[in-house]
Amino acid sequence: MVNFGNIWQYLAVQAPLQSALSGDQFNASKMAVSTYTLPQLPYAYNALEPYISAQIMELHHSKHHQTYITNLNKALQSHVAAIASNDIAAQIALQPIIKFNGGGHINHALFWQNLAPAGSDDASPTAAHSLVSHIQSDWGSLELFQKDFSAALLGIQGSGWGWLVREESGKLRIVTTKDQDPIVGGDVPILGVDMWEHAYYLQYLNGKAAYVENIWKVINWKIAERRFLGAHDDAFGTLKAAV
Ligand SMILES: [Fe+2]
Repeated sequence: MVNFGNIWQYLAVQAPLQSALSGDQFNASKMAVSTYTLPQLPYAYNALEPYISAQIMELHHSKHHQTYITNLNKALQSHVAAIASNDIAAQIALQPIIKFNGGGHINHALFWQNLAPAGSDDASPTAAHSLVSHIQSDWGSLELFQKDFSAALLGIQGSGWGWLVREESGKLRIVTTKDQDPIVGGDVPILGVDMWEHAYYLQYLNGKAAYVENIWKVINWKIAERRFLGAHDDAFGTLKAAV
């Protein structure tokens, strides 16, 4: 039985398996596929009020995030079936579906951890001494970083995400991704903000700038510090726990 810890391991491992084994040696129909489950929020749905309403949080978590997971699990099952039947066309057709829904699962799992109730110890930049020191060194001040990050968020066209990432070299960088494209490769996602309308529209309507201004009140700096100081895979611990 093959047990893949996350979808990236799954995608990385299954292709070499298929090419290395043939005929009776490889039976994809017997290959186990991880079923992903919705990770619990580390706080109540109303914990981020007044900056993010309980209604938004409940819909966002229990409906939107769950839908990405449901569609990811379905696509992964279909992918295994396509491998078993040597249907390369079906395998290719499933790749963007896996990327979109797998990305949706990864991004939201990271996002929930990036938030904390306003006024809590975790929501204070003082909980991220090392990270804030690096930010001050690179941007001049935390305020200037927040200004740059907010501008990047507001510059996203359509649906997407804004991220502070740590490159393999240790350098910090602000990046934006479209749709549900996740941060993959060597970069560590330290801080991510969902800029899909479903993240704010019920409360802020077209006031995207107000959502961005208020998101800083509920950023979990303790988690950001932990990801900044930790190893690459540490950032994805929540995902591994939700299989
Ligand atoms: Fe979202």
